[in-house]
Amino acid sequence: MFALAHLSDVHLSAPPRPVDLIGKRGLGFINWQRGRKHVFGADALEAITRDVKASAPDHIAVTGDLVNLSLTGEYARAKAWLGNLGAPPDITVIPGNHDVYVPKAKAQPAEYWGEYMRGDDGAPAGTFPFLRRRGPLALIALSTGVPTGAFLATGKLGADQLAALARLLDQTRDHFRVVLIHHPPISPPSRHMRRLVDAADFRGVLADKGAELVLHGHDHCFSLVWLDGPQRQIPAAGVPSAAARVAHGSEHAAGYNLFHIGGEVTGWRCEMVSRQRGTHGTVGEINRQTLLTAGSHRARR
Ligand SMILES: [Fe+2]
Ligand SMILES: [Fe+2]
Repeated sequence: MFALAHLSDVHLSAPPRPVDLIGKRGLGFINWQRGRKHVFGADALEAITRDVKASAPDHIAVTGDLVNLSLTGEYARAKAWLGNLGAPPDITVIPGNHDVYVPKAKAQPAEYWGEYMRGDDGAPAGTFPFLRRRGPLALIALSTGVPTGAFLATGKLGADQLAALARLLDQTRDHFRVVLIHHPPISPPSRHMRRLVDAADFRGVLADKGAELVLHGHDHCFSLVWLDGPQRQIPAAGVPSAAARVAHGSEHAAGYNLFHIGGEVTGWRCEMVSRQRGTHGTVGEINRQTLLTAGSHRARR
């Protein structure tokens, strides 16, 4: 069995300089001071990081929002955290909207943690989508992180990425295809300002080409939805922020998922184990669920 850990949205912060707080970052900083500053904490992230490492997964996926306001000090903290988590070949990272919070930060994720964001083909870091083959897995990494206006946290794939995604899903159909995307493939109307704007097109590619698993962040909660595929439905799972000290509104306390993947193209098996930090600070299993079993895949609706 191949073990894949999925964590997300660590939102590492650093003190801004006054000049950093012009425009959208200023509003974001005020929001941070009022709310999330009290939600995220190093103790929670340390507990989750320790637990992930103790699980000794074969690979780790980190689905974006590593930083908060796209500040230099934040990128450096995120780079150090990744370095402690593991080596670049063993961790695949994609950016979230907070990693490219303002237009001038667009190239920063590739500059600071590009080695974690590079495909097997050797294309420059920051080229999306990229593909990594690990054991039976084909990890297809997308970027939805685009700078937006104030009060918006939307994401976009764009026509070029969607077309490349379709090609990669075709090329890797003999693998267990894991699609990594920061924004969720489905958002309720209440999250309109935080949605993936071309989510319907994304779901259309999956319905046409198929995939075995979609992993996302952004919503900061454990979630599982089933998307249409060509023959059977595709599980799409989200995780909380790995740094959330407490639950906050609809957002859950820190946790992550561990996937045990086996079988072969004629019948994949996939079990999802959810682990979460409890009120006493220890991390433990809260749910175990079989997503795919050979011969009993959920049929398309
Ligand atoms: Fe986030
Ligand atoms: Fe996000």
